[in-house]
This record gives sequence, structure tokens and C-alpha cells, in this order.
Amino acid sequence: MSEELIPETPEQETEENEAAEPIKQRKNGLYPGVSEELAENMKSGWADTELHGLEPIAQAEHTATRRAALSARFPGERLVIPAGNLKTRSNDTEYAFRASTEYAYLTGDQTQDGVLVLEPTGDSGHQATIYLLPRSNRENGEFWLDGQGELWVGRRHSLAEAEQLLGIPAKDVREIAAALAEATGPVRNVRGHDASIEAALTDKVTAERDEELRVYLSEARLVKDAFEIAELQKACDATARGFEDVVRSLDKAEATSERFIEGTFFLRARIEGNDIGYGSICAAGPHATTLHWVRNDGAVRAGELLLLDAGVETDELYTADVTRTLPINGTFSPLQRKIYDAVYEAQEAGIAAVKPGAAFRDFHDASQRVLAEKLVAWGLLGDLSVDKVLELGLQRRWTLHGTGHMLGMDVHDCAVARTEAYVDGILEPGVCLTVEPGLYFQADDLTVPEEYRGIGVRIEDDILVTEDGNRNLSDKLPRRADEVEAWMAQLKD
Ligand code: GLY
Ligand code: MN
Ligand code: MN
Repeated sequence: MSEELIPETPEQETEENEAAEPIKQRKNGLYPGVSEELAENMKSGWADTELHGLEPIAQAEHTATRRAALSARFPGERLVIPAGNLKTRSNDTEYAFRASTEYAYLTGDQTQDGVLVLEPTGDSGHQATIYLLPRSNRENGEFWLDGQGELWVGRRHSLAEAEQLLGIPAKDVREIAAALAEATGPVRNVRGHDASIEAALTDKVTAERDEELRVYLSEARLVKDAFEIAELQKACDATARGFEDVVRSLDKAEATSERFIEGTFFLRARIEGNDIGYGSICAAGPHATTLHWVRNDGAVRAGELLLLDAGVETDELYTADVTRTLPINGTFSPLQRKIYDAVYEAQEAGIAAVKPGAAFRDFHDASQRVLAEKLVAWGLLGDLSVDKVLELGLQRRWTLHGTGHMLGMDVHDCAVARTEAYVDGILEPGVCLTVEPGLYFQADDLTVPEEYRGIGVRIEDDILVTEDGNRNLSDKLPRRADEVEAWMAQLKD
């Protein structure tokens, strides 16, 4: 965007000390540098593009069900769930906007500055209203002179269109501060997304009660509905195609760096989805032993392993979270294969422990036992028994992290659920989680034989709990070592 295309901001309009005045409140109806004739000209000659008879979005029934459950949990209370605002990257550029998970989950909408309000209606539930910025006014100039004018940022839905799409009555978001100021009775707000909403509610809410709302919305997402499961499958399928892209381009990565892998996967994420669901970990060679290696600026060398942990986020904001550890030259060395097979066996044991009625902790314990057995068998833990190793947690020097987590709209989904509902909870159909054991031998770890140092292996899949066991949503990518090698050979042909 060149300098002269930036709409005139109040700061640039200096002559009559009108700097702080918002465009829409100007007294004489004129804007400095804009002639009366041009202002008049820009008001008219625009076609009516209002859309009628729009079909509701695909998840409208599901969002209504989610709002009904929320309503039942907090009877008689006003509930305020903001989408959040643009965040400054530097000066006048912003990060790409990503709506808050809570707002998108309850509305299916992703508009910046949007706010969902559930207003109590006597004893019988709530009336939902979605507050959005309407289409730009062409009479007062905001259409073409305001930085958020549609001429600059693109056409928005009218409030009437949003109502048809979302199935929620819509109002102008510029009215919400006054509406909240007038509100009486108990109010709860999801904090952390919209400072202006928090400022408007400061005398009406408490941190403790707001946190209960946030915890509820985290726990509500523990069991996925049919729409969410389909989205997670879509995310995993697109992610598999992204991994295939990476394998096909490994020679280019060898000629450049891990950045080529990052960019290759990102291209797939943007073509098939909204974004990546988290920073891609493109860890070649010893970088694989750094759990969150997202600098991705290292060399990619034949003979070493590539640990790629990446996930496509769908347009509806559901993400995959998948890891494969690949031999860059297409074939595991005997030692790489030994370590890989151990992690594979641990993952198999973990996946087998994912079923309805099992404890959430079971799959972690199953994977850790296998890894401890391997570490003991390899002589890395002296003459300690496997049980003693597990009791003391000594395997963790090389296993490092928990074996998995809930997955959904957030990569680490449901993160503020209570311990009894999540970590100490029982699995039921509709829960989706990752199973991702790993072994990591740091380059400077003097307690392991030299040839182990700098090898890191993780295998991560996205597992849905079903009525009779589980389904691996990311099974389009091979996991067994020989199948990985065959798959790579086929893609590189
Ligand atoms: N990609 C982060 C994780 O696996 O949890
Ligand atoms: Mn991951
Ligand atoms: Mn994960």
C-alpha cells in the first residue's frame, strides 16, 4: 500500500485543530482535502447489493445447540463473548485476525470486533444478539474515508445478511457499550479478547465469575459434535497432503533450509484452510530434540532425520496436530530405525489405550511404559527395573513431555477445563486427542552413547474416541518405518 493511498486520518487534518474528531462527527460534513463536490459525488451512484434469501451456514444448528447448553448452565445471567480485535504488528500494520475460539464456537462467525451477548429472558433462557459492524455508510463518508471503510477492507455482510447466515439477531456493535452500561443484573464476560468490552463491564463483573464462564466453554468443547468431527477430519486430510508436499520438495529444502519446509506446508494450509493451527516445527537433524523448534532456519542434510510437527487449520478454525519423523534421504539408518521403532511401539500402545471408559491418563502411562522398557533394554538406565524407572520418572530425561492433549479449535484444546474433567477425566465418544510419544537425545547429553546424540523422534496422530474404541483421523499418513520409506520413495518418483 503506497503512502498516498492511506486514507486521511484525523492527525493529517491539522489546519483547524480538528485532529481528534472522528470522521462521522465532523460538524460541517466536509473532510479536509475533500471538496464539497467530491464528497457529494462519492455519496451516490452505487448499486444496491443487499443479499436476500441466504442459507444458514453449515453449522448454524450446532451453534444454536451450543448456545442452548450455555444458556442452561447460566440461567438469569447476561453473558458476553467477544471475538476480539485486530492486534498491531508494527506501526499501522496488524497481524492476521483470528476470532476467539469461544466466539467462533458459539456463533460460527469470525468477524473482528464482533460480540455475542446472551441476555436472560425471565425464567426461560436467553435471547442471543450478535453485535457487528454494519455495512459502511456512504452518506457520511466512512465508506471511503475511514480505515475500516468497505472501500479499503472489502464488503461486509449487512446486519440483515448476518442474521440469515448465523441465525442470530444482529445489532450495530457501536451500540454495545451503551447497551452494556444500561444492563442490570448479573453479567459474565469472557476476558482476554476485547479491552473495550472489559472496560464497559468493569463495575459489573468479577474475575472469579468470568473464569467460571471460560472454564465452562473449555469443558463444553471436550466432546465434539458431528460438525466438529468432520472439520477435524478435513484438517487431518489437508495436513496429510501438506506432508506429501514436503516430502516432494525435500531436495529443495536440502538446497536451502528448514524454511523451505515451513513455506511448503504453509502454502497447503492457506490453499486448503484458513492457516496453520500453530507454528510449524520443521526440525532437521539435532533440532528435532528441541520440542518447540520453530525458528526453522537450519540446514536439511541427507542422512539425518526431519521431525515435522504441523497442522492445517480449516476455514472453520479446527486444527490438526500431526508429527512424522522422516529420514531425509528416504531410508532410516539402523540406529535411527531402532529408536523410531521404539517410539512407534509406544504410540501403538498409547493408541490402543484410547477408548470409551478409559482414563485420560491411560494412554500416557501405556506409552511411557514401552519407552521405559526400551531405555532399560538399551542399557541407558543401569540395572534399574522398568517399574523402578517409572516410579522415579527417570525415563523423562528422554521422553520429555506428556503423551498427548485434547485437540479441536485450539491445538491444545480445552486448556482451562478443570482437572477432574480433563486430566483426571474418563474418555467418552466424541473426545479427540493426540497420541504423540517421543524420544529425544540431546546433542550434549553425555549419558548416552555418542551415536544417539542429536537424534529426536516423535510420532503424533489425532485420535477420535468412538463408541467401540477409536478412529485415527490422521491415518492417511503412514507411521510404520517400512511404510514411511515406501511412501517417501513413491512420492519422490
Ligand atoms: N504441536 C504441538 C504439540 O504437539 O503439542
Ligand atoms: Mn504437534
Ligand atoms: Mn500435540
